[in-house]
Amino acid sequence: MSISVIVCNGCCCGRVEKGHNEVPIDELEASWEANQLREEVKLTISNCLGPCNMHNVSILKTDSEKIWLGELSSWDHYDAIVQWAIESSEKGEGSKLPQILEDRRFVRLGESIVRLKDLG
Ligand code: FES
Repeated sequence: MSISVIVCNGCCCGRVEKGHNEVPIDELEASWEANQLREEVKLTISNCLGPCNMHNVSILKTDSEKIWLGELSSWDHYDAIVQWAIESSEKGEGSKLPQILEDRRFVRLGESIVRLKDLG
C-alpha cells in the first residue's frame, strides 16, 4: 500500500500576495519528521494541481482512493492532514477522514468542482 499526501503551494495556493492563506510547509515537514512519517506516507509539496479556485488544495492518495481537499484555510486543516497521515501509517492504509477535512472534500467532474458537503 502506498500512501501519499500532496500539498499544493503553486501559483495560487499559499500566495498571500494574492490574498490567499499561507501553506505551512515548514510546520508540515517538521510534523512529518517528528512523527517519523517519511517511510510510510510520502509528503510532496507541489506546484499547481489544477483547481486553483479551491485554494488551498491538497490530495490524499492511497492505492484505492484519491481524495481532493480544498479551501484549507488554517493550521487546523493541515494538522488534521498530519493526524490522518499518522493514523494511516499505523494502519497501513488510508484511515477515516476527520470531519474537519470531510467538510473540505470535493470532486472534479470535467471542468466542474463539486463540494461533497453540498450533496448532503
Ligand atoms: S495553485 Fe494550487 S491548485 Fe493551482
